[in-house]
Amino acid sequence: MLKVGRLIKDSPVRWDAAYKVFMGACETARPRYYEEFLENNIPVPTPQQEGGDVRVLSIASGSGEADSVILKKIMQSRSSVYNRVVEPSREMLRDFKAMVQQDTSLSAVKFDWRQQSAEEYFSDSDGTKFDLAHAVQALYFMDDHHATLQNMWEQLADGGHLFALLVSDERGMGKLYREVWKWFPHGNDRLTTCLRTSSDVTRSLESSGISYVIAEDEHDINLAECYKEDSEAGRLLLDFMTQTSNVYAHPKMRSAVLEYFLRHSSSVDG
Ligand SMILES: C[S@@+](CC[C@H](N)C(=O)[O-])C[C@H]1O[C@@H](n2cnc3c(N)ncnc32)[C@H](O)[C@@H]1O
Repeated sequence: MLKVGRLIKDSPVRWDAAYKVFMGACETARPRYYEEFLENNIPVPTPQQEGGDVRVLSIASGSGEADSVILKKIMQSRSSVYNRVVEPSREMLRDFKAMVQQDTSLSAVKFDWRQQSAEEYFSDSDGTKFDLAHAVQALYFMDDHHATLQNMWEQLADGGHLFALLVSDERGMGKLYREVWKWFPHGNDRLTTCLRTSSDVTRSLESSGISYVIAEDEHDINLAECYKEDSEAGRLLLDFMTQTSNVYAHPKMRSAVLEYFLRHSSSVDG
């Protein structure tokens, strides 16, 4: 049965493989896009006490690519950083720790590893306050993105910053999420799936009276692999782009999505 927008719940192993293919497809299309966007937009917090640690809460760190950029940016102007990492995947945490061991520019950061989901973490809070709480490409996967944002907000120290990065519903992948839901609705609440976009977050912040600023950029994804009949990488990429398991086995959805790509692509690799 076609369960739109539930790839990570239906098949975490396939989601993991699809995520790696997706990251590769972004990197070949526009190297260092994520790094540049984060470097330019992440707020650099001030510690609560002069000379004390800047305290960072990372929700859904994955294998640490975004954390690494954020921490290095903070370290340019702050000498002492504490990073609490909340990530449920053992494999992602293992890769993150390996990266930290190899990258000497992160050796001054105090890491506090929590192998937990955000839901588990917030249900047992120790009251620590943070100068920055971030969720980079992550609010799609929480049971309830609104509750996660609320919890992150409540853990901020005075003057602390909340940073969330998601796809925009105006274009690209986020627009595709909205289209896919229109074509193949599955139940009546899109927000119970991973097909969430930036306006779901801004709506949530507004309903809580939290003011915000928006930064936007466009990035390219090399989708050529999706058009190769027997390419497993192409199938995984198609699944990641729609957050849906085995799109390949559903010809109607596959052709609708491939057609959507063609209509919105600047060029197609032959
Ligand atoms: C797309 S990755 C983002 C990784 C990282 N923030 C980055 O941008 O490099 C999403 C991450 O969310 C994690 N995740 C999924 N469900 C979660 C949950 N309920 N709580 C916390 N993290 C979760 C996944 O294990 C995965 O590592």
